[in-house]
Amino acid sequence: MRILVTGAAGFIGSNVCDVLLGDGHEVVGLDDLSRGKLENLADARATGRFSFEQFDVTDPRLGELVARVRPEAICHLAAQIDVRVSVTDPLLDARLNVLGTINLLEASRSNGVRKVVFTSSGGSIYGTPTELPVDEQAPVRPESQYAAGKAAGELYLNVYAALYGVAWTSLALANVYGPRQDPHGEAGVVAIFGTRLLQGKPTKIFGDGTSTRDYVHVADVADAFRRAVQPGAADGMRLNIGTGRQTDVRTLHTLIARTASGPDEPEMAEPRAGELQAIALDAGAAERELGWSVQWQIEDGLAQTVDWLRTKL
Ligand SMILES: NC(=O)c1ccc[n+]([C@@H]2O[C@H](COP(=O)([O-])OP(=O)(O)OC[C@H]3O[C@@H](n4cnc5c(N)ncnc54)[C@H](O)[C@@H]3O)[C@@H](O)[C@H]2O)c1
Repeated sequence: MRILVTGAAGFIGSNVCDVLLGDGHEVVGLDDLSRGKLENLADARATGRFSFEQFDVTDPRLGELVARVRPEAICHLAAQIDVRVSVTDPLLDARLNVLGTINLLEASRSNGVRKVVFTSSGGSIYGTPTELPVDEQAPVRPESQYAAGKAAGELYLNVYAALYGVAWTSLALANVYGPRQDPHGEAGVVAIFGTRLLQGKPTKIFGDGTSTRDYVHVADVADAFRRAVQPGAADGMRLNIGTGRQTDVRTLHTLIARTASGPDEPEMAEPRAGELQAIALDAGAAERELGWSVQWQIEDGLAQTVDWLRTKL
């Protein structure tokens, strides 16, 4: 089928493009290159079944693009991804993440798009859950504007399904890591630790190192997108995509230091305000609905990611 991927030049989006192309689909990638890189799309371009459009997902030209391309499905990954940016500049976050999603849904309903696969955030929309791993029945309790924007996106998906019959699945991702994650900026602790340890630079942990996250490999995430675009797959559902396993940040540092042959001696800094103490996602629904399962255990995934970072330095 023909599939439009927004945020195609980014970390996860480019991996999604590669997996969809590997399945024989035709893919059109959209990205404004505010963060993504064209080099992430080298493999996609080599297939001859990929084309690229550079503009903002909030741009009215999106409707023209969807009318011309007529994709059967859209994987929507373009977003402002930094929780702290959403707190300091909530209007920017809402413009890109909420209005961008509405613009995409308008383009979809006007042009007969069958399905939108949305990218939500399992690590933030549930707030501070009472039980871990958290499943999709838990209440949605955003504690940041970023999380509120993702939750809003799901509400709009429901509206467009009810009014116009646009099918949707929302993939609520845990902490994603793997090749192509940008080590610059604040997101992506695996890429940051890995790059700094390989470069012989000091590393820093905020807090006492006991806070935990659920780290899911980008190949497993891309596999969930490939399954979700199929006709009838988990229509109208949010599915958590995570491993259910918690890894504390101090242990994560030890694992990365080991594979990068660097010192396991992070500086311990003051905790940062507003960060969750613990999160892990129950992905049982994705297993049942999509036949999805975790293929990458964290030890193997970290070794593969550090190998990739090594080739980039
Ligand atoms: N990385 C994670 O752990 C994680 C976890 C949960 C959800 N997500 C979601 O996954 C998606 C992809 O995130 P990522 O980690 O690959 O980040 P990323 O920054 O690498 O990818 C986002 C891409 O979107 C593009 N983009 C941003 N604003 C745009 C706009 N207005 N118009 C067009 N393109 C725009 C960027 O240039 C970038 O290429 C996002 O929706 C993010 O919220 C990521």
